[in-house]
Amino acid sequence: MRKNETVERIRALMQFETERTGPPPGFPRFPDLPGKRYTDPSFYELEKQQLWKRTWLLAGHLDEIPDPGCYKLWDATGQPVVIVHTNTGDVRAYYNTCRHRGAPLVRNPVGKTERFICGYHGWTYNHDGHLVGLRDRRDFVDLDFSCRSLYPVRLECVGKFLFANFDSNARSLHDELSPLVDQWQQFQFDSLRFVRKDTFTLACNWKIAMESNMEVYHVRSIHPRTVSPMLDHRGNVNTLYPGGHSRMVAPLHVSSHVESEELGQYVDDRPDIATVGEIPRTCVVSFNVLPNLVSPMNEKGLPVFLFWPTGIDTTRLELWWFGKDWGDGPTPKGWDTYIDFFNEIVEEDMQFGNGIQKGVESYAFGGVPLSYQESRIYHWHQAVDKLMGVDNIPESLRVAPVINEQWITR
Ligand code: FES
Ligand SMILES: [Fe+2]
Repeated sequence: MRKNETVERIRALMQFETERTGPPPGFPRFPDLPGKRYTDPSFYELEKQQLWKRTWLLAGHLDEIPDPGCYKLWDATGQPVVIVHTNTGDVRAYYNTCRHRGAPLVRNPVGKTERFICGYHGWTYNHDGHLVGLRDRRDFVDLDFSCRSLYPVRLECVGKFLFANFDSNARSLHDELSPLVDQWQQFQFDSLRFVRKDTFTLACNWKIAMESNMEVYHVRSIHPRTVSPMLDHRGNVNTLYPGGHSRMVAPLHVSSHVESEELGQYVDDRPDIATVGEIPRTCVVSFNVLPNLVSPMNEKGLPVFLFWPTGIDTTRLELWWFGKDWGDGPTPKGWDTYIDFFNEIVEEDMQFGNGIQKGVESYAFGGVPLSYQESRIYHWHQAVDKLMGVDNIPESLRVAPVINEQWITR
């Protein structure tokens, strides 16, 4: 996986996890996570101001805007952004806001255009965001065009995956994700092809939804017929990276990702990504990118889970699928069969979402005791506090920073 991370090393760690009788010596005990982090309006507001505005968010994929002039409107955060594939081959992002009186620059979810022409009074911008034309110019005395470019949004790519960040001072995407980007090379992100997108509406806080994809402690209880027969949760290895990002690697009981009673005799005609190594072929390898991305990856490709809050207690889950390019012709049939099976697992994961929301809202609920197996969740919360500024967080909602450097992998 990483350059110094051999297959033998990961196998040894899985062996250690299988055989251990407790957490590793010295591993911190987690204080309860305050339950109000899922329900308190002030915490939700803080996330808006300090989390969504300052982190790298997956905003699109180049297959959505394949040619110069293609654009998409991205509005997952309440800040509409237009992302354009420019005539020079770059991808740029701008707030979807005309510099005259703020009308939306584009209104279609996707399109293709040489120029952005505002529908209100016709101000016109090129792909670089420069104001290049306006009607009745004689009435704008001394208007300096160079000061009226579209407001830019940071946009950086890993392969064909487009990440946006509203913070102009944020560190680069590659610096932020360097331990993960190293490992992702084997999946050839620059040639993965968009397969399908599904959307789920969930009646719980977005963190509750995401956290069911950040531990395998629940596998035997809620996936007895789907995941549990395949995956050995006791051998799972969690790796914590700087910035709150993390990875799990759990061995599979069977060599194939799709040998399951539920799938029956499944003919998998999806092409294989030849460069993927042994570990993703024989284990479940899943990444969490703070704040809201989860992606389990294997030799056939990957889904990206994106958890977007639509309110304090409602979430939109977008599930985007990517696979190795199959060339001309229709999408391999195996994809739909596999995704439909996978969606059953997602439904299993989400079955308690609203119940948990009610649980954490109950008068009695205090804090969440997290186990060693759930350390990726604690690590995420600890990093979020640092990012949002501990001093900005009411004391009763803070998470004690008990995971020290010793447990972080650089
Ligand atoms: S608001 Fe766009 S041209 Fe007036
Ligand atoms: Fe699950």
